[in-house]
Amino acid sequence: MDSILVKGNGPLNGVIPIAGAKNACLALMPATLLSEEPLTLTNAPRLSDIRTMTQLLESLGVEVSALQDGKVITMSSHGLLNPVADYDIVRKMRASNLVLGPLLARLGHAVVSLPGGCAIGARPMDIHIDALTALGAEIELRDGNLHAKTQGGLKGAVHEMRFASVGATENFVMAATLAKGTSVLKNAAREPEIVDLIHCLRRMGAEIEGEGTSTITIQGVDRLNGATHPVVTDRIELGTYMLVPAITGGEIECLGGRINLVGAFCEKLDAAGISVTETERGLKVTRRNDRVKAVDVVTEPFPGFPTDLQAQMMALLCTADGTSVLEEKIFENRFMHAPELMRMGAKIEVQGGHATVTGVEKLRGARVMATDLRASVSLILAALAAEGETVVSRVYHLDRGYERVEEKLSACGAKIERIRSE
Ligand code: UD1
Repeated sequence: MDSILVKGNGPLNGVIPIAGAKNACLALMPATLLSEEPLTLTNAPRLSDIRTMTQLLESLGVEVSALQDGKVITMSSHGLLNPVADYDIVRKMRASNLVLGPLLARLGHAVVSLPGGCAIGARPMDIHIDALTALGAEIELRDGNLHAKTQGGLKGAVHEMRFASVGATENFVMAATLAKGTSVLKNAAREPEIVDLIHCLRRMGAEIEGEGTSTITIQGVDRLNGATHPVVTDRIELGTYMLVPAITGGEIECLGGRINLVGAFCEKLDAAGISVTETERGLKVTRRNDRVKAVDVVTEPFPGFPTDLQAQMMALLCTADGTSVLEEKIFENRFMHAPELMRMGAKIEVQGGHATVTGVEKLRGARVMATDLRASVSLILAALAAEGETVVSRVYHLDRGYERVEEKLSACGAKIERIRSE
């Protein structure tokens, strides 16, 4: 397993290009199952999660080809599709569950292994099941698999979700594009990745209104066509790199960034003493004083502060002047980075869904372990600001969601290198 070695060396300056969004791409790729014609995605990120989704689609009978080193992905589902998403692939990544809605809509049946619990929380599938059941699917759990079928195809329906789940919104919307009649989803999630999925489905001929609001209306059509679609900027990668000048000092411009992708996050940065300016090509970020100020953070569905930036924000607040409280409202066990940050001298107390962080003047390098995707990058941020050397082990978590991290940070002056294991 590879590790990453970081030597903290003060302010970082430069320009960082932000990739296409992993979470958008993971929803856009299964959309290919809805059409016999090819779907091409441009601006795709080059990540291990995308390779896992490629493997899953190939196992279902989709032809996938990648150009420009993986930045352009073309998928074709014209052949006979296999309706079974196997455990061996699904267990690697929860987003595998996004093939359920499209397979049901196209084939009328599907078997998708139940994604297991994962480190950050239980993450059940009940909201997905309720949403697809509302469209007329019959779903039962047998031998660890969800067996789903329809009698005579999916039918449009009005459905309100008990919680605005991102994945369940994506599954419902994709399934409803080929259902008979009109479907309305209430309490829908509003994340930019969902908006991006709907823009792509519309290019494929789907009739959908209300993206970005909590009510989405879908008029079912008989078939969808092929399309080419550019993946939206990754707001989580964006937010992560915006924290680099925040924690080390210096000035970094994140190419492709827009404030509307990270509005709630920018408000917290401003309160902490970080300036963000929108330029023609992205967002420029600088720290106003030597030290940031403490701020309280509560994670919420979009447009609130994203749970996927909570670990990275905690790394910043470990160095703040004062005490901050972070409340995690989306996942029940998402503070695993706290004990690792404490190995670097951070003062953090976790109680249930709250973490109280008392800022210290300096973090110190240490050997630490990545426990999940966003936790791993929070340790790298902390290491950039720490005195001495940090070795982050288990960086396969990082590779799921960040492409060429060492390259992007080295270009801004960071001392960071990957130690490859044999
Ligand atoms: C997506 C993102 C993930 C992000 C999360 C919340 C992708 C590929 N992943 O995950 O990075 O952290 O949104 O912004 O886009 N829940 C249920 N029952 C369900 C579904 C969800 O109880 O059927 C719960 C989950 O356990 C969790 C909460 O709802 O506590 C949010 O989950 P959801 O919005 O569905 O997240 P994902 O789509 O899995």
